[in-house]
Amino acid sequence: MSSGRGAGDIQDNMYSEKVMDHFNNPRNVGEIENASGIGTVGNAKCGDIMRIYLDIDEETKIVKDCKFKTFGCGAAVATSSMATELVKGKTIYEALQVTNKAVMEALDGLPPVKVHCSLLAEEAIHAALWDYAQKNNIEIEGLKPPKADISEEPVEED
Ligand code: FES
Repeated sequence: MSSGRGAGDIQDNMYSEKVMDHFNNPRNVGEIENASGIGTVGNAKCGDIMRIYLDIDEETKIVKDCKFKTFGCGAAVATSSMATELVKGKTIYEALQVTNKAVMEALDGLPPVKVHCSLLAEEAIHAALWDYAQKNNIEIEGLKPPKADISEEPVEED
């Protein structure tokens, strides 16, 4: 820990340029009216909440649009922004492969203490896909029911 910095200060090397870009100019913020699927997840430890909306083409099963609303930290905003970008244009089956690792890689990494923020993004996508699958009576192989709270996930925090 460097001295002379407040806990809220952003250290120059703590976040990649991509993280800062998606935090300052988040893509796909908002809601989708009559969304095909909506997923809301939270982490009780930090209190952050993320909601993802999916607009899915019934024929092709391609995610035509994806939006998010995040009440959370800067990394949660950046990861949800990147997650929506990664999911758009993919089929629901490909969207399932957008893991927190994929989101972190696309952002050129996150500090260990912020890994759980990217997990929130993965869980929110899964929850929205689950909602879509339930509404349409379909099964997406490998998709599990959403957790109400992801804080039981192993996170690297002190
Ligand atoms: Fe919890 Fe970022 S601190 S989502």
